Amino acid sequence: MRRSIRINLFIAVIGAILLAACGGAATPTAENVPEATVPPLSPDYLGGGMLYDNWMSALGVDAPAGDHPLWKTQTTNTRTGKDTFRCKECHGWDYKGVDGVYASGSHKTGFPGLMGAAAMSAGDLLAWMDGTNNPDHDFSVYFDDTQLAMVVDFLQKGLTDTSPYINADKTANGDAAHGKELYTNTCQSCHEEDGRAYNFGSEDEPEVVGTIAADNPWEFFHKVSYGQPGANMPSALKNTWTLQDIADLLAYAKSLPTE
Ligand code: HEC
Ligand code: HEC
Repeated sequence: MRRSIRINLFIAVIGAILLAACGGAATPTAENVPEATVPPLSPDYLGGGMLYDNWMSALGVDAPAGDHPLWKTQTTNTRTGKDTFRCKECHGWDYKGVDGVYASGSHKTGFPGLMGAAAMSAGDLLAWMDGTNNPDHDFSVYFDDTQLAMVVDFLQKGLTDTSPYINADKTANGDAAHGKELYTNTCQSCHEEDGRAYNFGSEDEPEVVGTIAADNPWEFFHKVSYGQPGANMPSALKNTWTLQDIADLLAYAKSLPTE
């Protein structure tokens, strides 16, 4: 009971701040999304999940120059710059790398999946993250010790196998009616009833909540689980939702407009 009051209060306060920040505009575009301050990361595996998504946005730092040192060891993914430094670009939203969704398509790199990481010791994982095992995979130049520990914690606790919830054809195994309740109570205050309050894409290629749910349910699952790096979006796992709750929300979000 007390927790849900606190969550509702949190959402109300954030909602009020957002409304004030965008002057109550009905359809803010990506340019006027409030982004002035980077919210503090939770110092545990949930914070690690945000770093996995986009550590530069999560920490409010610029991307290092050029491409990630390992980028030149592949040729299939032609992105450059900031994207090449994101864990998700090399290891996937489903954490399965070459064995998962990024086995083909424009994001294909051939880089390995991480599903074995949960079974590795914190020491072994740190050796992967600080360059001990491969000097080109050294994130200690970008992360402090706390942030390295958060990533290791995420690798041990946060790599959800989404296959029980998301099928290969992108359909979700969830209860959309329950998902609608969750959406109304948790997401609507910021994203509006139709999920179109913010356009994360461009005017020509709009991306709204419904687009991500339809096109990339694995990304949707990760972002809802951990929140949006650099934004005040709540983390479902921090709010102690179950993975099935997230799947239910996904099943509903697939009925929202995609542009
Ligand atoms: C530019 C691509 C790239 C990025 C970005 C990247 N990795 Fe990797 N990662 C790799 C490659 C390639 C390997 C395998 C290296 C080897 O075998 O020496 C690897 C290996 C790993 C391993 C060891 C896996 C195993 O089972 O042995 C872990 C854990 C890992 N990465 C986690 C991460 C995390 C967390 C991030 C973000 C902070 C990240 N990686 C960012 C390419 C990348
Ligand atoms: C407190 C406000 C807030 C709440 C509540 C909120 N979000 Fe967000 N969300 C944001 C902001 C801000 C962004 C970033 C918008 C941008 O960068 O254009 C975002 C981004 C997203 C993205 C897209 C990220 C991308 O870059 O592709 C998705 C998907 C999303 N939210 C879904 C949800 C869902 C589902 C819920 C309910 C569980 C939710 N959000 C709750 C504020 C919120």
